[in-house]
Amino acid sequence: MCGIVGAIAQRDIAEILIEGLKRLEYRGYDSAGLAVISDDKIARLRRVGKVAELQKAMADEPIDGKIGIAHTRWATHGEPNEKNAHPHFSNDEIAVVHNGIIENYEPLREELKSQGYTFSTDTDTEVMAHLIERERKSSDSLLQAVLKATHLLEGAYGTVVMERSQPEKLVVARSGSPLVLGKGIGEMFIASDQLALLAVTRQFMFLEEGEVAEVSRRDVTILSPDGDIVEREFEESTIQHDAGDKGQFRHFMMKEIFEQPTSINNTLEGRLNNNSVITESFGNRAPELLAKAESVQIIACGTSFHAAMVAKYWIESMVSIPCNVEIASEYRYRKTVVVPNSLFISISQSGETADTLAALRIAKQQGFMASLTICNVPGSSLVRESDMAFMTRAGTEIGVASTKAFTTQLTGLLMLATALAQSKKTLPESEITNIVSQLKRLPIDINEALSMDKRIEEMAEEFNEKEHCLFLGRGEQYPIAMEGALKLKEISYIHAEAYAAGELKHGPLALIDQDMPVVVVAPNNELIEKLKSNMEEVRARGGQLYVFADKESEIAENNGIKIIHCSASSHYIAPIIFTVPLQLLSYHVAVIRGTDVDQPRNLAKSVTVE
Ligand code: AGP
Repeated sequence: MCGIVGAIAQRDIAEILIEGLKRLEYRGYDSAGLAVISDDKIARLRRVGKVAELQKAMADEPIDGKIGIAHTRWATHGEPNEKNAHPHFSNDEIAVVHNGIIENYEPLREELKSQGYTFSTDTDTEVMAHLIERERKSSDSLLQAVLKATHLLEGAYGTVVMERSQPEKLVVARSGSPLVLGKGIGEMFIASDQLALLAVTRQFMFLEEGEVAEVSRRDVTILSPDGDIVEREFEESTIQHDAGDKGQFRHFMMKEIFEQPTSINNTLEGRLNNNSVITESFGNRAPELLAKAESVQIIACGTSFHAAMVAKYWIESMVSIPCNVEIASEYRYRKTVVVPNSLFISISQSGETADTLAALRIAKQQGFMASLTICNVPGSSLVRESDMAFMTRAGTEIGVASTKAFTTQLTGLLMLATALAQSKKTLPESEITNIVSQLKRLPIDINEALSMDKRIEEMAEEFNEKEHCLFLGRGEQYPIAMEGALKLKEISYIHAEAYAAGELKHGPLALIDQDMPVVVVAPNNELIEKLKSNMEEVRARGGQLYVFADKESEIAENNGIKIIHCSASSHYIAPIIFTVPLQLLSYHVAVIRGTDVDQPRNLAKSVTVE
């Protein structure tokens, strides 16, 4: 969603702000802007489109200063045009950048209008600027004014506020949208994501829910929502410095697909014994809690939801306890039933997805035994607010289309199912040893899957002119087919749907003709013969099949069937392995169609609004 950068230093900071915005480009946005205090005035520059447009404008109309705020906007209220781009002002005195949605902006807007404030944008954010300006009149400091204003806001915000007459302080506040402070030598930075600041600092401090802070070059004063002083230290970040570079690859997505053997190695590192999963990898209390768990509720969104669906197949078959899986945006708004000794699990790459976070907060009131998050971002809201956290260690993922984050989630979830089976003794020890050795083989098997890249690139040519595509799978490959369809639609803009292959005859078969490519995930498992019958149903109606199959699946290339052979050394890890060719297929189709692979239209990397 929106990206935020702020800086206060003794040197000029406009270039730092622009560099920070560029590092946030991966999050998705439609316009960008910055404001600095210069010559006792707030100077502002805004442009629709990429940060490069803003940079060009800065070359034509140079602005600079020692304090400033900057923003990339992902439109929620009001069109993506220059007028609506942040920062927003109140009376040329207060400037604000904001990530999130102010839900009660309409009544506040009416109230402020009746008090003489004029609005020049269609955004909810402008309400914040005027509200803070109003509260400032009756407050000793900007910090107190922002604190008072936050008490009047409903919704979500991560915000940085600058005041013309105080060029040595910025005030920040968060509720529902992340904000991190970065400390340099005699300078201070603010961002919605640590990645934006890696070029200038590695010392970070996260703001917690409801907090407001005053930031000067050397100090930070944090207030709790009640106005009490909060003490917190800066900590050294462990994020790799080169996380924002594409290296030899044309796109971040391809870099991240090829990083999967390393990422999965990192996921496994130090978490496996010779013949078991180390249960404490899920948290110190995990041995006791996993032994006690009688059911599991998983919630997630998008790709992470697909990982949850695979986990359901694993947990129910390996552990014989019920595992319910639900999309977070549904879970949070319906009445649900929690059975005793149920473990709540959230899955999220970013750890900041608004719906997932809201579902966790509701779950904490519902009487679950404990909450566990499977997450990739240390220090994120889900990690901080869950009882236990399993870090997937995928490394920073920049491409909006999730790839290595997904396969590392799956790896963590297979480890979790195994740890549950160990503690409940639902699988023989020999089977646990077998799963552990399959987990250890994963990086090798993924490398083998990656070696098919050239063939998949050739196959991708055949999708160039297509507008629709079906994906089929059965069992735990059904969610993998769903993930394949999501990848194709989000980066190539081809309409793609996934079905459990047994469902074909209940409706989707009507769509099949020679223009409908059908991608099938067909590892050799107990459902392969059923799947072959489903494929015949497609072939008989002239559909073109593109099949990813084990050699042992014994599917022959034929009229209407193109095969690419993959091999997974066991059915447990097959969903992880068969994900890779589907990622490569959607990547190459998108490149051939010339779309913006890393920043597909209308999408954002971290969905911090509802
Ligand atoms: C994945 O390709 C998507 N961009 C998207 O579905 C994503 O998985 C979803 O928004 C959930 O994000 P999270 O894992 O960060 O919670």
